[in-house]
Amino acid sequence: MSGEQVLKKSDKGFYVTTPIYYVNDAPHIGHAYTTIAADVLARFKRLCGNTVLFTTGTDEHGKKIQRSAEERGITPKALADGVVTKFKGAWKLLDIKNDDFIRTTEERHTKVVYEIWSRMKENNDIYPGLYEGWYCTPDESYWTEKELADGKCPSCGRDVERIKEESYFFRLSKYQRPLLEHIESNPGFILPVSRRNEVLSFIKDGLKDLSITRAGFEWGIKVPDNPQLVIYVWLDALLNYLTCAGFPDDKNRFGTFWPPDVQLVGKDILKFHAVYWPAFLMSAGLPLPKQIFAHGWWTIEGMKMSKSLGNVVSPESLVNAYGTDATRYFLMREVPFGLDGNFSQRAMYTRINSDLANDLGNLLSRATGMVVRFAGGVLPVPDVPDQFDTALQQKAAQLYDAYKTSMNNMEFHTALSVLWEFIGEANKYVDRTKPWQDAKSGNTARLNTRLYHTIEATRIAAAYLLPFMPDTASKILNAIAQDTKGKSLEQLARWGVAVPPVKIVQAQPLFEKKIDPAKAGPGTQGAGIKGQEPPSAPQQKSASGKQAAQSVNPSITPLITIDQFKTVELKVGTILAAQRVEGSNKLIKLDVDIGEKRTIVAGIGKSYKPEELPGKRIVIVANLEPAELFGIQSQGMLLAAGDAEHLGLLTLDRDAANGTRIK
Ligand code: MSP
Repeated sequence: MSGEQVLKKSDKGFYVTTPIYYVNDAPHIGHAYTTIAADVLARFKRLCGNTVLFTTGTDEHGKKIQRSAEERGITPKALADGVVTKFKGAWKLLDIKNDDFIRTTEERHTKVVYEIWSRMKENNDIYPGLYEGWYCTPDESYWTEKELADGKCPSCGRDVERIKEESYFFRLSKYQRPLLEHIESNPGFILPVSRRNEVLSFIKDGLKDLSITRAGFEWGIKVPDNPQLVIYVWLDALLNYLTCAGFPDDKNRFGTFWPPDVQLVGKDILKFHAVYWPAFLMSAGLPLPKQIFAHGWWTIEGMKMSKSLGNVVSPESLVNAYGTDATRYFLMREVPFGLDGNFSQRAMYTRINSDLANDLGNLLSRATGMVVRFAGGVLPVPDVPDQFDTALQQKAAQLYDAYKTSMNNMEFHTALSVLWEFIGEANKYVDRTKPWQDAKSGNTARLNTRLYHTIEATRIAAAYLLPFMPDTASKILNAIAQDTKGKSLEQLARWGVAVPPVKIVQAQPLFEKKIDPAKAGPGTQGAGIKGQEPPSAPQQKSASGKQAAQSVNPSITPLITIDQFKTVELKVGTILAAQRVEGSNKLIKLDVDIGEKRTIVAGIGKSYKPEELPGKRIVIVANLEPAELFGIQSQGMLLAAGDAEHLGLLTLDRDAANGTRIK
């Protein structure tokens, strides 16, 4: 298959990719995010009737992996095998239906790398030389002296290594102009637009030829005719997208899917995908992907996720704590795709309680409950619609375009928000039309129409949910005895697909409500929060000045060492005086003796009257950063347990002097 005889891709074929993940560590929320987005898109396209190729996999070569394996005292292959099992397990838990899983250590991939190398060489794009400069092993990237940030990797902030070695170079400079022309004449090639502009200015600054080999270690694909060198891991890894598409031998597969329609990447690896990758393809004479989409990064409870902070969130912990579909929903709903986002337990609980348990759960429960109560559990035939019924039908009809456009524009959060507006409309329809009154008055024709419309709206909502929450959507469709098999989204979205009579049973609740710890817990202090009621999981700094590990939820709270615990200074004290804080029904200002006098603002006002507090022996966190609450500086946090209205203060069962440190 030569570059010249390239192919008109089949109209039905749709190819979406995720990056392939390094095997030095287990999967985390960042990997899950891209993979869920790709899965949502793939499921949507399948529902639209496309033949989809959705690929993901693992990036297994390079110095970083070799080093990780050495640190563990195992071979790189053994390390990769173990981590691959974890990735595959995580994708199963998250209900990811990828069509291929590529490992760069597979034979089929090596073949592709050699094929592309030889095409580049034939094209006079590879030449030997000497590389001298900096290298960031964690990112597997080259940097010039000028690019470093305070001597560190400008991308990840970690240490870089000076290298000077024999190398082969790729003539990246030759592709500066063709790349600029391509990006400028294809506005949708790099998205979002802000990222496209970054890439344009990076290219305009001038592209230097790229070292595409590494020396001095073994773990990689060897350079043809020079086995002392291994092929640069990013060249190796980027070519996975060709391998998955069947290049070079499976002409049928390649013809159906090449070029990729959407390649999802995180913003940190955009340069590799939007500059190097298209240049490699141009050199090999192959068509470029239609779109590279760079998404943002997640922080965890407001902090960068990192192993050293102990706040890395795994897909498994998310699924254990919140369930597969709620996790998928949250990640797609909470943040516009392309922007950075923050994961917090509180935001997750709000989504589960309000969007999933209330809005969606209620609709299903009411729809099925009413059919059971008022129609003997059999979906009735509707009568002539009135203005309420027609309005609901119209809302359903409008949903199709809005949803489809958002999905095609990678605006997953908008697709979900328009869907939730419709779910809200369906709930309002029930509130306004009050079918129970028709049941009471014996207006069966009207009642049947209302019941049918409520079920039909629920069915349509479930159809749109299929890409995002496949299991929940199926549960809803099962509860109302509807089958989606073989039907496209367009067919499913039409009004009137549910045909009576079918048997309907009262649906079980779809989601359990979560109890917000802010309402349950003491909420006595909130470092850094000014003039607000305190948050549930205050972010605080440890004595060493480092951010302390965050409590994301009970099942994913990381273990701490005794030394970490010792950074929290807990002391015994006596309350000297107490008064309510004006403007708050929860906060009480306390004067506390802990060997010195401290003012503490505590959220205990719903459980204690100020007059019952003086004299109480309590325990406080004495080294918490001061915080201002309602204009008062709080210099510590008292410990209490229970829900907001039934708090109990922690106290001692034997006497100890004020200021005694708790061990
Ligand atoms: N192996 C390369 C990709 C090669 S693709 C030809 C790689 N792997 S990675 O495992 O380090 O990261 C993969 C992806 O995870 C990147 O897209 C990166 O942006 C993403 N994320 C890592 N941390 C993240 C967050 N905290 N939030 C969102 N995505 C994040 O790079």
